[in-house]
Amino acid sequence: MKFSMKVGKPETIQADCIVALVHTGQVLGTTAQALDAATGGLVGHAVKSGDISGKPGSTLLLRSLPGIEAHRVLLVGAGEAGKLDAKTFLKSIGPGVKALLATNAKSAAFGPADALTDRDASWAVQQVILALRDATYRFEKFKSEKSANDTTLDAIAFIAAGDDEKTVKAAVAAGVALANGVELTKTLGNLPPNVCTPSYLAETAEAIEKDFGGKGGKLKVDVLERKQLEALKMGSFLSVTNGTVEPPKFIVLKYEGGAKKAAPVVLVGKGITFDSGGISLKPGEAMDEMKYDMCGAGTVLGVFRALVEMGLKLNVVGLIPTCENMPSGNATRPGDIVTSMSGQTIEVLNTDAEGRLILCDALTYAERFKPAAVVDIATLTGACIIALGSVNSGLFSKNDALAAELLNAGKQALDPAWRMPLDDEYQDQLKSNFADMANIGGRPAGSVTAACFLSRFTKAYDWAHLDIAGTAWKSGAAKGGTGRPVPLLVEFLRQRAAA
Ligand code: BES
Ligand code: MN
Ligand code: ZN
Repeated sequence: MKFSMKVGKPETIQADCIVALVHTGQVLGTTAQALDAATGGLVGHAVKSGDISGKPGSTLLLRSLPGIEAHRVLLVGAGEAGKLDAKTFLKSIGPGVKALLATNAKSAAFGPADALTDRDASWAVQQVILALRDATYRFEKFKSEKSANDTTLDAIAFIAAGDDEKTVKAAVAAGVALANGVELTKTLGNLPPNVCTPSYLAETAEAIEKDFGGKGGKLKVDVLERKQLEALKMGSFLSVTNGTVEPPKFIVLKYEGGAKKAAPVVLVGKGITFDSGGISLKPGEAMDEMKYDMCGAGTVLGVFRALVEMGLKLNVVGLIPTCENMPSGNATRPGDIVTSMSGQTIEVLNTDAEGRLILCDALTYAERFKPAAVVDIATLTGACIIALGSVNSGLFSKNDALAAELLNAGKQALDPAWRMPLDDEYQDQLKSNFADMANIGGRPAGSVTAACFLSRFTKAYDWAHLDIAGTAWKSGAAKGGTGRPVPLLVEFLRQRAAA
């Protein structure tokens, strides 16, 4: 699907379908008003007939109106006039996009969005792009028969009024870049674990470098192999991969979009490409879903895909420790004590608490970049799903300013996070009789003690942790990757780049 900007009055725009908003009480939005004037009142007449309520989600398709170039007009209800906020706008464009895709139109144009009460016009353009790309996303690589009656729509234009050409053009480019990132993250989550291996994630990072890093060579990717990880003394990470035949990888992405010496933001993503639990084997039910235990890594790759295409003026480092977690005669046993790269020793009481074991060494490795901030992203605990469900990602940080930045970015992008506690008192649950710490803290506050474990490796910099176990994946009939929290993190980085 191609997205572009077009200049002109709505009635002069050539497209198979033009999309315009109407409000409750038979009030026309600005684009609908222009179309109404050009058609001698036909648009208003249709609305007055009562065929569209104007409520979010209501739609009405008009065809072959005289006086305008577009073959169809799709009216989309947007609620009360003057009260169009971000959430209402999303409620409107979902069904609007669905109705548009149900037509036989090949091209469509969106009128300038009526001013939103809490967002600018660029935001609206980006949301329409995300909604269209989401509605047309298919993961059918492994299906012999592809789904029928797929859309004919392949060209989307956003109409600029004239004085805002540059803004609309930039918004279209940013929206496409963000959608590309979200889509990559979804696909990586959906791929089966026999395809999406640690090596596959490394190849994906290298492909981003090859395809998009070239422009000025701003992105460099390095992949560290087992030998190098041994030399770095990443004993905790390596203990998780003891039982695997697939080789582990440690992927380092360095994006230099900012000033040469500016401290980078470091993103660390958990990349367990399959979590069987190891010797502490998980129950069989829904174990297939543990292929999505690499969604932290997938998020980092999606964010890089987006930020490289956006050309963000910021330095960002991505770190991805990635391996499988498998049982075997070589696998780590409950009771084993391992030494992390930091020198701290860990008693592995449960081999299923493996995410923190790979992340802690990556967090120690992060120190060498003298980061401005470090954010790790991980499908870390089932307890986080119990606490927050699939609405909010769990946000843990001792740094109020960094936490506020991330919460705000999530709100702005409608990809929300909720702050969870990290009080020192919870650290007691990690006491071990035999090592510096245990890798589990018992059932109470399971997502908090997991974050507490990580915090012990983050003393050298400002740090936040996102537990995305509930938000990265949808279960049930429509199960699959969501692409979250790519929008939150891209917004966070955009605001840092603008600051
Ligand atoms: N990958 C899981 C967490 C998870 C569970 C993610 C369900 C998505 C859906 C993680 O490695 C894990 O197994 N955590 C354990 C920790 C426990 C052993 C302390 C958990 O949450 O049960
Ligand atoms: Mn696990
Ligand atoms: Zn896991």
